[in-house]
This record gives sequence, C-alpha cells and structure tokens, in this order.
Amino acid sequence: MLNPRPSPQGSRPIRELPDTLISQIAAGEVVERPASVVRELVDNALDAGAGAITVRLLGGGVRLISVEDDGQGITKTQLPIALKRHATSKIADLNDLESVQTMGFRGEALAAINSVAEVSILSRTADDSHAWLLDGGTGELSPGARQIGTTVEVRELFFATPARRKFLKTDTTELAHCVEAVRRHALARPWVSFAIWHDGKLVEQWRPPQTHDFAPDEDAAALQRITDILGDTFRTQSVAVDFQINAGDVALRVRGRAGLPDHARARADQQFAYVNGRFVRDKVITHAARSAYEDVLHGHRQPVYVLYIDIAPDRVDVNVHPTKIEVRFRDSGAVHQAVAKGVLQALSRPRAGSKLGIDMALGHTTAPPVHASPDALVPSPVATSGQNPLPWRNSANGGNRPVAAAHAINEWSQTWGHTEDKAPEDHPLGHAIAQIHGVYILAQNTQGLVIVDMHAAHERIVYERLKAQLTAVQSGLDAGDAAAAMASQPLLIPASFAATPTEIATAQTHTETLNRLGLAIDALSARSLAVRAVPTTLAKGDPVALARSVLGELAQHDASTVITRAQNELLGTMACHGAVRANRQLTLPEMDALLRQMETTERADQCNHGRPTWQQLSMKDLDRLFLRGQ
Ligand SMILES: Nc1ncnc2c1ncn2[C@@H]1O[C@H](COP(=O)(O)OP(=O)(O)O)[C@@H](O)[C@H]1O
Ligand SMILES: [Mg+2]
Repeated sequence: MLNPRPSPQGSRPIRELPDTLISQIAAGEVVERPASVVRELVDNALDAGAGAITVRLLGGGVRLISVEDDGQGITKTQLPIALKRHATSKIADLNDLESVQTMGFRGEALAAINSVAEVSILSRTADDSHAWLLDGGTGELSPGARQIGTTVEVRELFFATPARRKFLKTDTTELAHCVEAVRRHALARPWVSFAIWHDGKLVEQWRPPQTHDFAPDEDAAALQRITDILGDTFRTQSVAVDFQINAGDVALRVRGRAGLPDHARARADQQFAYVNGRFVRDKVITHAARSAYEDVLHGHRQPVYVLYIDIAPDRVDVNVHPTKIEVRFRDSGAVHQAVAKGVLQALSRPRAGSKLGIDMALGHTTAPPVHASPDALVPSPVATSGQNPLPWRNSANGGNRPVAAAHAINEWSQTWGHTEDKAPEDHPLGHAIAQIHGVYILAQNTQGLVIVDMHAAHERIVYERLKAQLTAVQSGLDAGDAAAAMASQPLLIPASFAATPTEIATAQTHTETLNRLGLAIDALSARSLAVRAVPTTLAKGDPVALARSVLGELAQHDASTVITRAQNELLGTMACHGAVRANRQLTLPEMDALLRQMETTERADQCNHGRPTWQQLSMKDLDRLFLRGQ
C-alpha cells in the first residue's frame, strides 16, 4: 500500500546490532551529498510515523539541513544510542531483516552523518514533559523545547574533509537534488505533508487531502499527490495502471499512472518506481515498463510513470545496496510480468471519445492533454454517466479486446466501408463529414470536431490486426503446430520483380519464416523473384514493395529472432504497406468504417511511431478560435 501512518517502527528500544548481523548488512557510504542526508533524515521521520515533515536548508543544504517531524520522538536515554554506529530500533535479528517494513534498518545513517558534519538532535516523546537536545559532537544532553517529535540539524557538511566538499556542485544544483529526494518520498506518501524551505523561502509544499472520512480514498489521495508534484499535464497525459498477480505464493499488485506515448521525454527523469513505498531504481521494473512502450514509442524517447508495487516484504530483499535504492526480488519474473502487463493494459485501453483539449488559442499549440481516466489512480470499473461516454471502454470483456479487435477489424480495406447508420453521439469518434487533401478525415462527434490522420490511423489498425494474427501463429507454434501461419491469400497473378542476389538468398533461406508471415516468395530465375501470396490483411497493398522491405529486414536479422522481432519493426513495415496511402480519396462510408475500426482497436490513438492518429477540437476550442463568447 502507500504506507500512510501509523509507524511500523513501533516502540522498540534503539540497540546496537550484534556483530554477526552487522556483517550481513550491505556496507557502504551513505553520505555523498546534502541530498543523501535529506533522504536518510526523511526516511527516519517517516519510520517514526510523522504526519508532517519540514525540511529547512541553507546554502543548498551544505550549510544546514534541518528535518523536523511530528513523529514519536526519541527518549532522553535513547538519544545518545541513536548516534552510535549500527544502533537501530527497527530490527533485532536476522528474521526481522528478512521482512523489514521500515525505510531504515541499518542503524548507520545518523552515525555516518555525525562523522562528517555537526549534528544535533532535539526530540520529545509523548511521555516527556519537555524536549532534550543532544549535541552530536560532544555527546552533551541538555533540556530543550519543542512539541512531540524530532528535529535533526546537520550543519557544515564535510567541514573536516575539504576534498569531499570540493566535489559538491553549486547551491542550486545541490538544492535541486535535495528537492528531488523529498519528492521521491512525497510521491509515495500522500497522507504526509511536506514543506521544503531554502534560505528562508518556501520552495515546495505538498499537503494531504482534507478528509474526515473513516475510509479515505487512497487512490484519490495518491492521484492528488502525483498531480501536485508532477503537474496537471502529467495527470491528463497519463492513464491509470492497476494489475494484480495472485498465483501460488506470489501475490503482488502494481498500481499507479503510466504516461501516454506522446508525453514521453528525452530523459528518463520522470520514472518513479516504488516497492512497498520505497523508491527504487530497478532493472527488472525499468525493463518491464519500457517493454510495454515498445511499439508505441519512437527511438530513444523515455516514458514517464509512477508505479507502486506492493509485494510481501519477505519476497523482496532490500538489503542489497547501502542506500537501499536497489532491491532484489525473489520472483523477478512475476514482477516483470505484472509491470509489463499492467502498463501495457493501461496503454491499450482505447481512449477515443475522451476530450483532447487542444490549446489552439493564438496559434500556440501545446501537447494535447488527453483526459484519460482523470479522476482516479485506477481505471474506473464502471462507466459513470456523462464523464465517460465510452460504453465499450468499460465493457466486461475489455481484457479480451486483442482477440475481439482481430475479429472486429472487419475487412475494411477490402469491403471499403459498410457501416450502420447511427446518430453521431453513438460513436466516440463520430461521423465522417469530409476529407482534406487526401490526408485528413474530418468527423463530427458530440464534443465537436475530430481530425484523423488517415494513413497513420489505418496503419495502426493493420498493425494491430497483424499482431493479433502473429500472436495466434506463435501460440500455434508453442502448441507444436509446425504449420501455424498467418492467413495468406494467393495472388491471381504472381508479382515478379528483379531482385538482388541478397534478396534471392534471403527468400530461399527464410522460406519457412516468410510462410509463417503469410508470404510466399520464390525465385523465378537467378535474377528475379515472384510473390505468389501475401497476408490476407495486406491483400490490397503493393506485393513487390512489401516483399522487398520484408526481405530487407530479414536479411539484417538473425532468423531465430525474426518471429519475435516481427512483433514490432517487421509488422510495422508490413502495416505501412497495407495501410491506405495518403492522397487516396475515400467515400464517407469508407471513412466511417475507418473510424469504427479505430474505436475497437487497441492503441489506436497512436501510430506505430508514437504520433497521435487523431485529435479532438471541442466546440469550446472552436469557439475560442473565433473568439466567440469572449
Ligand atoms: N526522526 C526520528 N524520530 C524518531 N526516532 C528516530 C528518528 N531518527 C532516528 N531515530 C532513531 O534512531 C535510530 C537510528 O537511526 P538511523 O541511524 O537512521 O538508523 P536506522 O534508521 O537504520 O535505524 C533509529 O532506529 C530510530 O530509532
Ligand atoms: Mg535511518
């Protein structure tokens, strides 16, 4: 869960750990820069059950870091022990270490910080009549004043080690790292309020939702915090993730938000992954999330996401890295699967019909915010009136959509458009009214105007159809059916073409793979090839161009990986050839048929290269263009 209060730290005494246990704990330096101190102190405040945490910094945190909390406090007798190396109240034996639920457990942070800076701790528990102040340098204890809770002050970091101090960057940079450290905590603790001050100015403040509810809405709180920290654009440009695995002794849940492909960034600076409330950088998670974007993200763009993974503490080892930023999963396969499937499923839910508020005022166009389940962290299970005009989006068989799509994508490219006559409001993407320069389709829906890039949209539809077929082929192969292949259609007149020696050699070595892809290509002579059959889905395309590009791809890649690879690039190539070309004039029924297929196709909102396939201009957007009602 998102680890709200109360504290799991409990009220155990702080004790020095036995040597055997010390040697089991990942050793290493935890203090590298001010942000490391901030992270450790905020960890401690959270472990103490704080509901409000204030971080005050001077000079980028180098001159002062003060972390103030309203947690359970430390008693007078315990204060000096807290500063000892390997003294902790959070674990007592190896058993505890294996199922640790607190942020800390190493008992090292305060000692390490005390060795490189001037530390003082002011603390008061509920049983004390006043606070106690411990001077970390001298060990002196004196009475002090404050409410229940703890303030740890860290001054002049690395004052005695100028060499290390030299490695610090400018105050601005160090401050940015400190803020990032708090941000990471805050994203996973929506019920804790955070404030960051720098040189006397309030830099950031995040508050929990006001609620008097006995069963407060966790998802709403999480979404509010995500929005407060990452901005409203992140909320509108992301979709809810919620995926669970319950198999044997593996039980895990992945929740959060995954950014839409359009919203990907040049840098991987908005990828937040949490395991039981702890921010981690983990290869399994990163890879799994990335794989979900595989065929919707172009090149080196980096997806954005906030993912919370909840898993039984004994299925994850947090004692791998001194700063605990790395973890080790016992069931990394299951974690990979849950993240990949969870994100994929979230991205696949078609979003047609949701409002795309394009800011076109004064020609200043920003990325269109797609309002995809804007009000929940998790996908809404039931359609709510008005807010979600998409009956199919919440259909009970939503999970079977790939299969449904494969069937539902009727042979649009073949029949060119049979469609029932319904009122525009019956269809999220509305009814076609015109085509512009053979490139865009204009349609009218309840909100206003829909503009579709017809080539990009159709390419996506063909691609998804091919992919569904290929998945069927693969499961056929898995089931031992050597003959499993994509539906293929023989050409009435084989298409022959002058081929290069490489093309001919490739056609001959990869006959079987080509057949599986629904292609039959054989040599006519030493210099020419003939295409005898093409995938049914692509029957309308140019067989020679298709053959050439597929052979080109096959020549470059290892045959054994081709079927797997076909999932993306190869299929993309094929889809592009099958897709309706720009500049082709379509009839209105043909355009309507395309719109209907988009509505039932997974990921139809982006083309294979991650560009949008359609945009909505609401009546309001249109009014704004004409300064109507202003
Ligand atoms: N803000 C705080 N509020 C209450 N107790 C604290 C706080 N900070 C530290 N402590 C106590 O001091 C001990 C040592 O802290 P630390 O060196 O960070 O080690 P660890 O967090 O790994 O136990 C903790 O186990 C905890 O009992
Ligand atoms: Mg700690």
